[in-house]
Amino acid sequence: MFSGLFCVVMKPSSAKIYRGTPRNLAFLASRLRFGEVVAVPSETVYGLAGNAFDPAACAKIFRAKGRPADDPLIVHIHALKQLADICLPNDAALRLAREFWPGPLTLVLPKSPRIPDVVTAARDSVAVRMPSHRLFRRLLKLTNLPLAAPSANPFGYISPTTAAHVRAGLGTKIRYILDGGAASIGVESTIVDLRDPKRPALLRPGAIAVAGIEGALGKRLTLPRSGGSKRKPGGQIAPGLLARHYSPRTQLTLHANLAAVAKVAKKTSLRTQAFLFFARPMNLRGPNIFCLDPRGNPRRAARRLFAMLRKLDGMKFRRIHSERAPAVGIGRAINDRLERAAAR
Ligand code: TXA
Ligand code: MG
Repeated sequence: MFSGLFCVVMKPSSAKIYRGTPRNLAFLASRLRFGEVVAVPSETVYGLAGNAFDPAACAKIFRAKGRPADDPLIVHIHALKQLADICLPNDAALRLAREFWPGPLTLVLPKSPRIPDVVTAARDSVAVRMPSHRLFRRLLKLTNLPLAAPSANPFGYISPTTAAHVRAGLGTKIRYILDGGAASIGVESTIVDLRDPKRPALLRPGAIAVAGIEGALGKRLTLPRSGGSKRKPGGQIAPGLLARHYSPRTQLTLHANLAAVAKVAKKTSLRTQAFLFFARPMNLRGPNIFCLDPRGNPRRAARRLFAMLRKLDGMKFRRIHSERAPAVGIGRAINDRLERAAAR
């Protein structure tokens, strides 16, 4: 009679969410200086931060995320004068920094010996970014340290754009989350490889579009092959740029003509499948029809992308069908994340 009755013992969340008051910021800065990890808001996605000069703190980041040790971290700074402690900047890097920092642009440059191997996965290059989020900047200033921070999600899952997302994913692994509201951009930073300034390369599309970077550099960028790279342990390609990433647990499939697929599904009343449109579709309504932004505004769609994928994942559909965004500007970043989420 009691078969079917299960008692699931869940580990309680140990993470506390802190508002960005001066007192809380001072406390969290002291935790970071002490070698603890703190989840922090940024304009792109939430990050899990630790002192970039402290190998033990950085090892905690990898443990909390379940991130493979060969996937290097981004180092965050608040002032250009910190750059020389992190990397060997070249003129091209300084030009992009002046144009786009603080903001959602990450530069890959030859690393300084001060950055420990755990941060760069023993590479001779390091990724560096100056974020624009007010509270993240306050924390960087208060610690007066460069902070290494990957996205604050379990490895491979959808990146967090709110403090609640961080707690849902890492709540049993970390203790401190700084709440800075919903991320205003919603997809991770654009990454540009500037190790060789004569051959700048785009490693990951983001809110800062290729055309703007090419304009500032006066040079074309080498673009990544679509579909992502295969995992090559110790290889030269950024492991976080794996074909499969940012993935909901529910299988996601991309379609060139989503409206046609949804109409067929409607006839056969396939309510177990969700349809995620870029803009609100004409003549299609129902509990399983969704859109990233009713008017198809690319910036608003990017802002909602990860929260929408999480929501659909939680609704236990058997499959999610989606379409691509128009492939311009931030639309390229949306498509990149959708393609990785759909990769099997
Ligand atoms: O917007 C962002 O970039 C967010 C916020 C928190 O700053 N961070 C973020 O970190 O997305 P993460 O770790 O999820 O993605 C960083 C990517 C990974 O794909 C990693 O492999 C790549 O940057 N990366 C880091 N260091 C690198 C390096 N030296 N060379 C090439 N790729 C690198
Ligand atoms: Mg990530």
